[in-house]
Amino acid sequence: MEIGETRIKTQGFSDQSEIFIFCSLIPKHVTGLAFAEFKTMLEIKEHISLKPFNTFGINVKARYFSEIMSCDEITQFIPTLEKDHQPLLFLGGGSNVLFTKDYPGTIIRIATRGIKILKEDSDYVFINAEAGEVWDEFVKYTVDRKWCGLENLSLIPGNVGAAPVQNIGAYGVELKDVFCELEAFDLVTFEKRKFSREECLFGYRESVFKHPGRNYLIMNVTFRLTKYPILHLDYGKIREELFTLQIQDPTIRDVREAVIRIRRKKLPDPVLIGNAGSFFKNPVITGEQLEQIRFEHSGIVHFPFNDEFKLSAAWLIEQCGWKNRRQGDVGTYSGQPLVLVNYGLATGKDILDFANQIRESVYEKFGINLETEVNIV
Ligand code: EPU
Repeated sequence: MEIGETRIKTQGFSDQSEIFIFCSLIPKHVTGLAFAEFKTMLEIKEHISLKPFNTFGINVKARYFSEIMSCDEITQFIPTLEKDHQPLLFLGGGSNVLFTKDYPGTIIRIATRGIKILKEDSDYVFINAEAGEVWDEFVKYTVDRKWCGLENLSLIPGNVGAAPVQNIGAYGVELKDVFCELEAFDLVTFEKRKFSREECLFGYRESVFKHPGRNYLIMNVTFRLTKYPILHLDYGKIREELFTLQIQDPTIRDVREAVIRIRRKKLPDPVLIGNAGSFFKNPVITGEQLEQIRFEHSGIVHFPFNDEFKLSAAWLIEQCGWKNRRQGDVGTYSGQPLVLVNYGLATGKDILDFANQIRESVYEKFGINLETEVNIV
């Protein structure tokens, strides 16, 4: 057993609790003076295995590792971190990250908890959740109270703080549809600031927080939910599932149940088999590009998306013969080839090599460059 490994806390980890938040360098002017004061409050562990902290189950080590339980710890501790402890990488849950090597700086796991109602009237409830809340527990909390808006986003792994980073989306709903505002910590000025929906620049699996150079750590997120049901049933499989369940007049609880059933059938449970959900984004192309591709590949699966078209990456990958393929301990999942899985002992590099082979064959066959959805570290 290696130094530090015995001290690691694993009880906070579950299949739904881990997601990547943000990677950032702290500016060089930070002094280490105040560090000693916080050392006693916040434990910094060394040479910690990150295996329990990423849903791919990759066994790399962090040089330093710490867990933050309150917003005050964020605002007080982060500015004090010495140059020796950089770079910093913030992890909520590790469900959207692929570690390809040991991390040379400090991994800070955000484990802040708390849900509060900020405002409500007969139609709306404005509800705020701390970044470290487990996303699906939060969704359940709102659905149990019959507050509508998050039910289609049921069972997505990860934590609340990471959800805006990639504007999580599933079954016809995206986080931005119910987002009100968030509070973030500016890692350059060390001040708190709020972001409205417009300021987040949300796009398909995109936001202002995803770009290098934007140094913010999300601390808490406010959603605007409705007290009357507005159901989103247009994603075909939801209606199919409700039909199977013989539900004609669904409630939001029924929609949540249907989504959970679809996801369980189609997507691997990270507790049983390492994965980070969709590895690639669905490519978005212009109508003109689509026409060119259709000339040779008439069956290409596509959906209108704003003024353009979204292609099914799963279909492209399957057409290149990658569905349910395995190389050593890496493979594509049987139900969904967009999901790469670790059968046990795959390294991050094995997974990245496999992903690159997929990218190359999709590019060769269709001339389309698949972008990764997962953050490669
Ligand atoms: N398809 C195939 N072969 C397959 C599976 C799917 O050709 O083996 C085609 C089918 O034509 C199907 C289409 O792909 O109609 C879409 O499949 P699916 O409904 O599974 O959705 P997706 O576009 O592949 C996206 C998200 C998922 C999300 C689902 C449902 C991305 C990158 N992925 O997948 O999100 O759960 O829609 O809304 O946008 C995630 O982000 O980790 C994730 C799982």
